[in-house]
Amino acid sequence: MTSGGDAAGMNPAIKYAATYAKKCGLSPYLVEWGLRGLIEGWVREATPDRLAGIIHRGGTVLGSSRSKRFYEYEFRKQAFENLQHHGITKLIVIGGDGSFSALNQFYADFEVPFAGIPATIDNDIPGTDYCLGVDTALNMIRQSVDSIRDTASSFSRAFVIETMGRHCGYLAITSALANGADVCLVPEVAYDLDSIAERLRMQKKQGQKYVLGIVAEGTGMGDTLTRWMGEALGMDARLTVLGHVQRGGSPTVYDRVMAHNFATAAIDGLLAGERNKVVTFKDGHIGSSSISEIAAAKHLVNPSLVKLCEELSN
Ligand code: F6P
Repeated sequence: MTSGGDAAGMNPAIKYAATYAKKCGLSPYLVEWGLRGLIEGWVREATPDRLAGIIHRGGTVLGSSRSKRFYEYEFRKQAFENLQHHGITKLIVIGGDGSFSALNQFYADFEVPFAGIPATIDNDIPGTDYCLGVDTALNMIRQSVDSIRDTASSFSRAFVIETMGRHCGYLAITSALANGADVCLVPEVAYDLDSIAERLRMQKKQGQKYVLGIVAEGTGMGDTLTRWMGEALGMDARLTVLGHVQRGGSPTVYDRVMAHNFATAAIDGLLAGERNKVVTFKDGHIGSSSISEIAAAKHLVNPSLVKLCEELSN
């Protein structure tokens, strides 16, 4: 099942998990519409026709949801009965830490073990350096910033581009570095608008014709930074909020390969008797973390990335 915000890479993960499960002698099923589907019993066998032609598609062909009803025991019990009806004894959930916590509670109630596959463009799940969907989102952002640069340079304007990420600045920092932005504001780094203004005025004096700023949605600074850039630099300034375009698009090669690695590790873990673990990618290796480790840890963006961003916040 897929749960929570959709992310590119979910479809390849569904396909690889089901295909590998079959190779291992299991009978995989697909839960549609996430936790809601678990409650409603929207469960079907993973037949080849359901898995064909999905690897290149963004989002999730299974559908997803954020279900508040799953917090209530009565609905979790209903979900358990649906699984029993099909003889389903293990779950793989592709999603974020909210979905993993929900399934952990489900295990506490009914002892149905699950494996989590991290998938969110925010890249904010503790214990893993990578979540499915991040590379595709970064490439969507790159494409958009390239286009904005064309118009910014043609009009000698200042542009602020707001990226998603909820409370995490990973998408903004990585995009700022990959796209040569002049300014980057994220929740992880303290910024100084006066010092940014001084630096940009100097760059303008030296011949710079346009300015690109990237701001993480978690700062809530999109409008303010745009207005401020216009005033401080005496330039025409515009804001582009990229929004949900970042969540879509065909998964990149990296997301497809990582989907394969995560999906096979999830099945191997369940077959080895692991309970309630989330598959992780840490320091270049696929591994796993227990849900309690993940729940107890605070997610931190890689400090070397944060350090690089400091120059763009001052
Ligand atoms: O968690 C993924 C994410 O796209 C965040 O980056 C964003 O803040 C949020 O989901 C948007 O949620 P919704 O799709 O419900 O508007």
